[in-house]
Amino acid sequence: MSKNAKLAVLGSINADHILNLTHFPRPGETVIGKQYQVAFGGKGANQAVAAGRAGADIAFIACVGGDDIGERIRRQLTLDNIDVAPVECIENESTGVAMIFVNGEGENNIGIYAGANASLTPTYVERHQSVIVQADALLMQLESPLESVLAAATIASQHQTQVILNPAPATTLSDELLALIDIITPNETEAEILTGVAVNSDEDAARAAEALHAKGIKTVLITLGRRGVWLSEQNNGQRIAGFSVKAVDTIAAGDTFNGAFITARLEGKTMHDAVRFAHAAAAIAVTRPGAQPSVPWRPEIDDFLQQQD
Ligand code: RIB
Repeated sequence: MSKNAKLAVLGSINADHILNLTHFPRPGETVIGKQYQVAFGGKGANQAVAAGRAGADIAFIACVGGDDIGERIRRQLTLDNIDVAPVECIENESTGVAMIFVNGEGENNIGIYAGANASLTPTYVERHQSVIVQADALLMQLESPLESVLAAATIASQHQTQVILNPAPATTLSDELLALIDIITPNETEAEILTGVAVNSDEDAARAAEALHAKGIKTVLITLGRRGVWLSEQNNGQRIAGFSVKAVDTIAAGDTFNGAFITARLEGKTMHDAVRFAHAAAAIAVTRPGAQPSVPWRPEIDDFLQQQD
């Protein structure tokens, strides 16, 4: 595909309340935080921002609440090169919220409240279906109602729009939905929930990928944290290592990977080069705190890659 290929992202928008602590509180325990920040997040928005900053021609189908933060997020998305015409304001709802604990190792625990994201119904998807029809690829996650994800995937596959699903947060999915997906990008936990195969090695990743191919998915990309990514195309697998950096927090690392990966694919990069490009974007993101504040712009990704050669 060419530089003018179009991307549609469908997904969530959240206001992230991030509290940094030495360790996660156990049930009944109170831990005093070291730092608190409200940042723009949501898996859908993070992936849209990653694509917009990486240079994609992108439109975003999503909902914000009728509150001040929803309006500010919508404005910021425009500054991130995203067409927000399909982002509606749901007057009597609050914008989605994520409560995030980050421990001393940079790991996180997240609880979310859907708020306006729950209004992204199949009817809402139908209202904006022209965005999906005109796109070359549709990227989705699972913080939106599952029936809407299915409705969007159905429209996409009827109009030769490639469907990319990042199945996060982890849940089981119907064979009907899986059969509509061209590229799936689970992490190890999500791959295990989808396939029943615990992913602890390359061999496990190959077996999990095989199970997903058997559902009709052509390309499987299992993200393996520090070990990189398992890329499997029609049962031919290889591990592509990531870049080693000092992580501050991993919030939105996977989202950055997904947005950057599909941007690179739509530009015509090979699978291998698109994964390397996405690894670079995610590596930069983990060196910075928060979700969208950590997502790099294109020149930063290109510079990072150049320094690796
Ligand atoms: O993937 C990270 C995102 O998950 C955060 O931005 C938070 O909003 C949750 O949705």
